[in-house]
Amino acid sequence: MTAVKVILIVLGSLLFYLVALRIVRKLWHFPAPAFIGRFLDSDLRRWRQPPDKLIERSGIKQGMTVMDLGCGSGAFTLFVARAVGEEGKVYAVDIQPAMLKQLERKLAKAENQGIRNIELKQASAYELPFEDGALDLVYMVTVLQEIPDRGRALREIRRVLKPGGILAVTELLPDPDYPLRSTTVKICQREGFVLDASLGNLWNYTARFKKPFSD
Ligand SMILES: C[S@@+](CC[C@H](N)C(=O)[O-])C[C@H]1O[C@@H](n2cnc3c(N)ncnc32)[C@H](O)[C@@H]1O
Repeated sequence: MTAVKVILIVLGSLLFYLVALRIVRKLWHFPAPAFIGRFLDSDLRRWRQPPDKLIERSGIKQGMTVMDLGCGSGAFTLFVARAVGEEGKVYAVDIQPAMLKQLERKLAKAENQGIRNIELKQASAYELPFEDGALDLVYMVTVLQEIPDRGRALREIRRVLKPGGILAVTELLPDPDYPLRSTTVKICQREGFVLDASLGNLWNYTARFKKPFSD
């Protein structure tokens, strides 16, 4: 078999997988199953989405109070915790207990014993367990499109952000729920967020928004 044939087969299979999964996701809405935690934490993923790069793009700084919404197995949570430092705080929020269990196991490892600024919360994006204006930044990686009523979730995110607070939405191909950047910008702007920065490329981007100081 020639190299060209192999490349065509790989690309064709990838396209088939993407289209088939997208159709399934459109028909049935359910959160990403917990077993994909292995992939979320894989070296391949880290190579495609280096945590430090995403953290920088998202505007995460020392001392911030950040919510990693839809944190999953916590592929980014520990990196975010280090980035905000001891003065900061990270709330790792997910709707699925099985995902949070994976993060709990990670935190129990000897090498992570020094990390004390992460609090896990099982909650839906529709009802976040925070006071109004409690957070500096909401960090979401491959989550927003998984939520059926995105408008409702965005209004709730807006409530818990302080005025001038940041919403950072990162999306990656080949996530079957991947939306174009223009779609992400449109739905966030519709809920009153102001676009602050648009970073990365077509298949791996971060759209950063601000909650206005006044409504
Ligand atoms: C594709 S995973 C991404 C996990 C993590 N952000 C990452 O990039 O590794 C999406 C996560 O969003 C969570 N999720 C989906 N719908 C949610 C909702 N309505 N409220 C909170 N979390 C939700 C899922 O349980 C899942 O863990």
